[in-house]
Amino acid sequence: MNTRSLVSITDYSRADILDVLQTASRFEENPNSNLLAGKVVASLFFEPSTRTRLSFETAISRMGGRIVGFSDASSTSTSKGESLKDTIKMVDNYCDLIVMRHPLEGAARFASEIASVPVINAGDGANQHPSQTMLDLYSIYKTQGRLENLNICMVGDLKYGRTVHSLLQAMSNFSPVFHFISPRELEMPASYKLFLDKLQIPYHEHRELDEVINKADILYMTRVQRERFADPLEYEKVKNVYVLRNSMLAGTRENLRILHPLPRVNEINEDVDENAKAYYFHQARNGVYTRQAIIFKALGLES
Ligand code: CP
Repeated sequence: MNTRSLVSITDYSRADILDVLQTASRFEENPNSNLLAGKVVASLFFEPSTRTRLSFETAISRMGGRIVGFSDASSTSTSKGESLKDTIKMVDNYCDLIVMRHPLEGAARFASEIASVPVINAGDGANQHPSQTMLDLYSIYKTQGRLENLNICMVGDLKYGRTVHSLLQAMSNFSPVFHFISPRELEMPASYKLFLDKLQIPYHEHRELDEVINKADILYMTRVQRERFADPLEYEKVKNVYVLRNSMLAGTRENLRILHPLPRVNEINEDVDENAKAYYFHQARNGVYTRQAIIFKALGLES
């Protein structure tokens, strides 16, 4: 693997995370530069995306780079049967960096082992979404003034939710207490609970959001992802299991902020949007600065 790739959030040490967050704050102060002048970034989206693709492409544009790629794999030779291996070998010829989203878990790791240029994982199936995690951490730091010793409540699809898997691993560097709120069918996978057990990081599992909402510093809502269910009936059973409403925020901590990687469907009622504790739209904006910082690190740039 190219050592500058970001495939899993565990590719970053605690020091790397803090370094990227500091760089992101510099990009927030001054987003426009020519740091990527003469560089070409390939943006390969084999799965739909709004925020991740557009914020990466905004980040690249604001740094003076050029973008090649696709947002619909059906328009590529993948539809003629070309393998991912061959696709990556071709794209590697054309660019300085690959940003890739793919439905298969492990696809980004596979690409990073083939490519000579760094690969940034923009989401691989239910596995990892490390650039999302960096913008989540940036949002947590900005709203809480620290990353250490926070009560992090993760709500919804904890089984298939790649954003919560990456965030759990990253936050484990900062002595959190986790609360997992999910139906039985969508519990946090055992492998992630084992990861926490080994680090002696406390976590509590709940079925009801009411049990824990007043303890939360961060309420991380997630969408139940229809596209991850093999059986549509199983999706129907759990799709509306948690709906956050404005009335539920009475009595919550002053510092509480509500995050969501987005898109949302029904899990946050629109009456929450005007509440000062709702941070999810600003969170998405932070994606530009953190992705600028990730690219800066991946390419070993100097300001
Ligand atoms: N948060 C996120 O990954 O959103 P998109 O699917 O729109 O990129």
